[in-house]
Amino acid sequence: MARLAGKVAIITGAASGLGAASARRFVEEGARVVITDLDDAAGQALADELGQNCAYIHDDHMNRAQNEAAVALAVERWGGLDILFNNAGTPFSGAFEGIDDAALDRVVDVNLKGPFRMTQAALPELRKRAADSASGASILFTSSLQALMARPNFTPYTAAKHGVHGLTRGLALELAPENIRVNTLCPAATDTPMLKEFLPGMADDWEEAKSRFRSTIPLGRMPDPIDTANAAVFLASDEARMITGIALPIDGGSTAT
Ligand SMILES: NC(=O)c1ccc[n+]([C@@H]2O[C@H](COP(=O)([O-])OP(=O)(O)OC[C@H]3O[C@@H](n4cnc5c(N)ncnc54)[C@H](O)[C@@H]3O)[C@@H](O)[C@H]2O)c1
Repeated sequence: MARLAGKVAIITGAASGLGAASARRFVEEGARVVITDLDDAAGQALADELGQNCAYIHDDHMNRAQNEAAVALAVERWGGLDILFNNAGTPFSGAFEGIDDAALDRVVDVNLKGPFRMTQAALPELRKRAADSASGASILFTSSLQALMARPNFTPYTAAKHGVHGLTRGLALELAPENIRVNTLCPAATDTPMLKEFLPGMADDWEEAKSRFRSTIPLGRMPDPIDTANAAVFLASDEARMITGIALPIDGGSTAT
């Protein structure tokens, strides 16, 4: 039996990287998925690849009207919403003193306020599903290992991702009485297009940067996007029905050190 059979999901920022890997895994596991992004060409191409159980819509998750349109598409196409996966985010790399207002606003807005607004847009439909089904409903966030640990020169990103952890815990408690579970995924550095944008904070050379990352990971390898996607499938599935309010590291043992 497919682990997400019968469920309807929205995955934000799914045209690339962890979101795209998650969309593929969710559809493989029987979900019907609305994917959102700013990159319409890549988002539509992924929806075309995944076929009738996937639909793409342009949605900047900072924009409440666009968020509502994404939720409306899930309801119109598949009758409701069981899972919201807030995955979209943006990187930052640089020394604290040099951070201007535009950079600070962008990093906090996209990593924290966007998921907040998207969750507000989706909650009415998640509530309906939770009330109708013993399985309840599920909200996921992609925060980061930077929600649990810190490195120098990523401070606004680290602060925003710690904020996502707080959002997860508060919401988990508010929504537990309604059987809506809320969890966050905390991947270590993963080789997606975003990773290259973190490079200035890590090393001058790409291979050197990856090698430095690997050396900090007890399992000796960086996670692949599918590692986060597999964790998302589990946390969104009924197998995780007693799990809420957690921040799950996908880090090869880094947080054990
Ligand atoms: N790659 C890593 O090393 C890493 C590690 C930990 C956490 N993360 C987090 O994982 C998530 C996914 O990142 P990724 O590595 O797959 O990066 P990515 O760049 O491959 O994908 C991010 C996607 O989000 C989209 N996006 C950006 N702003 C958006 C907005 N306002 N509304 C909707 N979509 C938007 C982008 O267009 C892009 O397609 C992010 O939240 C990121 O912070 C990444």
